[in-house]
Amino acid sequence: MIQKPRGTKDIYSEEMDIYNYIAKVTFNVMKKYGFNEISTPIFEKSELFLKGVGEDTDIVNKEMYTFDDKGGRSITLRPEGTAGVARAYIEEALEMKMGLPLKLMYNMQVFRYEKVQKGRQRQFTQIGGELFGSPNPYADFEIIKICMEILKELKIDKNIVLKINSLGNKESRENYKKVLAEYSDKNIEKYCVTCQRRRETNILRMLDCKEKECKKLNNDAPKIIDYLTEEDKNHFEELKKYLDTTKLKGEYEVDPYIVRGLDYYNRTVFEILDADKKAILGGGRYDGLIEKLGGKSTEAVGFAFGGERVKDIILEKYTEKQKQELKQKVDYVIVKEYGVENNIYANTVAERLREKGFVVIDELMDKSFKAQMKNANKIGAKKAIIIGKEEVQNGVLTIKDMESGEQIQIDKEEI
Ligand code: HAM
Repeated sequence: MIQKPRGTKDIYSEEMDIYNYIAKVTFNVMKKYGFNEISTPIFEKSELFLKGVGEDTDIVNKEMYTFDDKGGRSITLRPEGTAGVARAYIEEALEMKMGLPLKLMYNMQVFRYEKVQKGRQRQFTQIGGELFGSPNPYADFEIIKICMEILKELKIDKNIVLKINSLGNKESRENYKKVLAEYSDKNIEKYCVTCQRRRETNILRMLDCKEKECKKLNNDAPKIIDYLTEEDKNHFEELKKYLDTTKLKGEYEVDPYIVRGLDYYNRTVFEILDADKKAILGGGRYDGLIEKLGGKSTEAVGFAFGGERVKDIILEKYTEKQKQELKQKVDYVIVKEYGVENNIYANTVAERLREKGFVVIDELMDKSFKAQMKNANKIGAKKAIIIGKEEVQNGVLTIKDMESGEQIQIDKEEI
């Protein structure tokens, strides 16, 4: 048997229902804020991610599915959504066509060659949104608010933690990097090998190391918040003011160690973690990306969550009844002896019901009456329409309520 590649999943049945439900709820929330859906290619030229995500990131260094196509071009399966959407924004002149601020939402498959474990796959889903054109913290606030609203609508907003931070603009970061370098150099031999390398390549990433010793050292490290320029500080303070006037007051934490694993961020960054401290959602501001990719300088802020991580929480948290409600409903199952005359009769009944919007499963195999009833139960059909010789001869239908077992007979024309 040929098995699927490691880190990929087949999604069907209950998980597919939940997954579709997540996408539907998310898009419904985002539509209320004026988001339009966008779809971009699954693969892009590799340079998009080298430039966009950053050459010193784990994603670009270790995790990308990159290959030469038959024409010798270097191609990469997208490891995230933002870079492709930013490229499309520039290439399709979306500012001209759709105006600013522009809000785009997506539901896409992304690929990262990561160590596979629970909640970490090599092909996974990102559902998110990007907002272009506003430099203002009120836009950051809107994005964070949307994220929390989505989780609330999905009824998984309990036991989660919203963490925010500001990375400031370049000036703030350069000031801070110097101070952090001085601090870490004093104890550099105590840091893990990865952090020692990051000290040289991408020093901010030292801050979100999960190694115990590094975490201890980071606890006493200078905090970026204390090194922000006046403008950056005001930007962050304004965002907090908005959060504090809503239900989110007291629902977020400022965490100076949120630095994010992608290089395009400036100023606001945020993450939402589940009860096990796993990131379900990440986002932030990336004002420099559009210009870096060759477009006209345009501010932007956005977020994405992992579809599978949210799905896993729902699988765990929802009651059987809640899950049942997400299932594709089957209103009627037609139970009959297979045969041309019965099929023609059944088809007219099914057609009429489907025109009225009901879900009807007609018998296509040649199963026994018992097997058909068993299947009707298995798929959770509400009613069975029994069509036998007698029903066809008399122009009637026997309808059985699958829950109560009650059976009635009606005229075929009444349906
Ligand atoms: P990210 O934090 O790298 O951000 O990914 C977003 C979410 O994708 C994570 O919070 C996590 O739930 C999920 N995720 C990441 N890696 C995996 C994996 N291997 N398996 C399953 N789920 C995973 C971004 O990618 C940014 N583009 C988000 C953004 C949009 N920032 C601004 N706009």
